[in-house]
Amino acid sequence: MTCVIGLISGTSVDGIDAALVEITGTEVDLRVEVLAAATTPYPTALRKQILDVCAGAAISIAELAELDDALAYEFTQAALAISKGYTPELIGSHGQTVYHRPPNLEQGKQGKNLLHSPQLGYSLQLGRGALIAQLSGILTVSNFRANDIAAGGQGAPMVPKVDAYLLGHPTRHRCIQNIGGIGNVTYLPAQNQTDISSIRGWDTGPGNTLLDLAVQHLTNGSLTYDADGRWASTGTPCNTLVERWLQQEFFRTTPPKSTGRELFGFDYFQQCLADAQAFQLKEADLLATLTELTAASIVDSYKNFLPGMPDEVLLCGGGSRNLYLKQRLQALMAGVSVLTTDEVGLSADFKEALAFAVLAYWRHLGITGNLPQVTGARQSLLLGDIHHP
Ligand SMILES: Nc1ncnc2c1ncn2[C@@H]1O[C@H](COP(=O)(O)OP(=O)(O)OP(=O)(O)O)[C@@H](O)[C@H]1O
Ligand SMILES: [Mg+2]
Repeated sequence: MTCVIGLISGTSVDGIDAALVEITGTEVDLRVEVLAAATTPYPTALRKQILDVCAGAAISIAELAELDDALAYEFTQAALAISKGYTPELIGSHGQTVYHRPPNLEQGKQGKNLLHSPQLGYSLQLGRGALIAQLSGILTVSNFRANDIAAGGQGAPMVPKVDAYLLGHPTRHRCIQNIGGIGNVTYLPAQNQTDISSIRGWDTGPGNTLLDLAVQHLTNGSLTYDADGRWASTGTPCNTLVERWLQQEFFRTTPPKSTGRELFGFDYFQQCLADAQAFQLKEADLLATLTELTAASIVDSYKNFLPGMPDEVLLCGGGSRNLYLKQRLQALMAGVSVLTTDEVGLSADFKEALAFAVLAYWRHLGITGNLPQVTGARQSLLLGDIHHP
């Protein structure tokens, strides 16, 4: 039994999710129990700074270094805050993504060896693990995406192997759909869990990013998200626009694929706004239309890239709280049960944080974390750098 803390702040840049878990077993016999969990919202100024950097603001290396350490400090505080009364042996910190560039596969294929291709991906997470280890006094694993990317992979999604052992079902085909800033799916066909070769996964596109940007735009920043999707639910989606937006190359690209705020961020939203103006959409209609794009892009990707539709979709991440989005997903997938991971006993709010605790635990034990058929990496690899306090 090992007590591990998982830490992540995703592309929504809303705050740090921390989960303290007790892990037993390793793979097929993996069991995880959440003992404590909390989300620590970012201070407003820090959040703005991160979002600016994500949107491509030019900053000096000195400023980048300061931000890196400010984040390591915040991540450590988040870890220590949930540790009271426990003795965690290990931290798995994903950090804060500020840049994600998927590999350019077209160019990569032309090269003889992906390793020598200039078109590898690149992904930068701030909040350096070495500092977290020093500040907390706890062994820390960080920088989980780097090895997969160096081996030609997308470096994302990282959680499918964890999902397989915690959420696979013997008779029901499941999709685990995380709706963070960006959406990502793990497809778990009904099976004996020892066979992980038929698992699939990819980033589906926008999760909450466009919705959050729209709400902030419409309220001049006084609201950061549409609680439960209530505002969006009063609008009517413009299907012509949704159909047009779905023609975008990312949605039509066959997995492996990953994305980030670089594609579905501020500039993308500005284009949506401009498109919406031509249709004279009301505020709620804009939100409903962006919700429809989010839902339809998820469902279309299942229809296009899975061997068949799942029996169940288990939602997690903050977007699983958006009842209107959930309703639209259900409407677009008649016959499929759309649930949350809470309903099968795994915290929807902390599933991603928990997954990085497991990935750190695997790294520590010398067990690989990525699935090459999901990320496109040449092989299964140990994920993350280990930092001793
Ligand atoms: N009650 C709610 N109703 C609607 N949306 C919500 C609600 N609660 C949270 N959210 C959305 O969830 C977002 C935060 O979700 P989450 O923390 O899972 O995303 P993330 O940090 O991008 O995670 P990751 O990228 O790691 O999956 C918020 O920005 C908001 O858009
Ligand atoms: Mg978050």
